[in-house]
Order: sequence, then structure tokens, then C-alpha cells
Amino acid sequence: MNKYEVLVNKENYVDKEFYKKFKLIEVKNFENEIIKIENKTYKEFLKLKNKVFKKENIKIHILNSFRDFEEQERICKEYVEFYGEDLAYKLAAIPGTSEHHTGLAIDITVDKNDGKFAETNEELYDENQRFLIVHKYLAKYGFILRYPSDKTEITKYNYEPWHIRFIGKRIANKCFNEKICLEEYYDKYIIKK
Ligand code: DAL
Ligand code: ZN
Repeated sequence: MNKYEVLVNKENYVDKEFYKKFKLIEVKNFENEIIKIENKTYKEFLKLKNKVFKKENIKIHILNSFRDFEEQERICKEYVEFYGEDLAYKLAAIPGTSEHHTGLAIDITVDKNDGKFAETNEELYDENQRFLIVHKYLAKYGFILRYPSDKTEITKYNYEPWHIRFIGKRIANKCFNEKICLEEYYDKYIIKK
């Protein structure tokens, strides 16, 4: 098992130093802010981005990637205030349990016109269709859709069409071809019963 094949979820915590296993680099996000992301994840992301743009005329942008414990805590607090605890923890991971602590997860946007977020129902529908197209390309570049719509009972998170996770081509292809999420992959292939 290589270092990219890590499982981070509600039961599998990472510590504050975990990211030091990875080379984090600084890049600009969609809003021109400097963010941190794992080096190989970024390289593969750029290939994915180019391919999807060429083939589908869809632009993928990075919203964010690496988040430290403090940032995750801030998000959780905001969500708890806004949505209440039950829903908040289906949307955001408590510090120590977020894949964003590794720099291997990316939240993306997909659009046809730069800078335009979906607002109307029609735009949201179109946006969702674009996400579905992008999802088909992920495995080829070593990414998985981490929180699929049909796996919410297993991942314990709501569907997140924007959250992609670099794990390497081998596992990404297995998850994609077998239509399983990362928890199921670990259950089937890693944890010996
Ligand atoms: N939204 C995902 C679950 C996170 O906070 O890491
Ligand atoms: Zn995310």
C-alpha cells in the first residue's frame, strides 16, 4: 500500500502532522487565492482538467484542497450554527477526520462560462449534468468521487459531486469499475476478516 492509498473517514483519524508525508505546493484557486495541494494530486488534476475541457468543453476549477484543523473547525462551527448538528456532520467532517487535511482531496467547480455559479434550478440541473460527465473521467487520472449519491449510508456524508480524491489509478479504477466507494474497497480488499 502506498501513501496515497490512505483511508480517512469518521473512524480513521489523521493527526495534525499527517500532511507532512506529502509534498504540499501552493497554487491559485478559482478566486485567485493561494491554496495548498499535494504535488502529484495537482499534476494529475491538470491532466484531468485539460482532457475534460478538450473533450467536453467543460471547465473545472479548484475551490480548495488542503485544510488544517483550525480551518476545518471553523467550517464545522459555521455549519452547526446554520444547519444544526445532525445535518452539519453529514456535510463537514470534524477536525482530524477530513480528507482535506491530506491535500489529496479537491473541491471543484464545473462550468462553461468562467466565474458563473449556478443559481436557478435550470442552472443547477445543468451544473449537476456537468459534474456527472466529469465523474466519468476521474479514474483515468487516479481520482475517485469520494461521496457518491448512492453510498451515503456507507460514507455517512451527503452526496458531494464536487469533492474528488486522489488515490492512484489502481484503486480509482477498481472503485469506478465495481461501482464501490472507498469504504467498500477497504472492506473488500484491505481489511482481512
Ligand atoms: N465535506 C467533507 C466531508 C469534509 O469536510 O471533509
Ligand atoms: Zn471537500
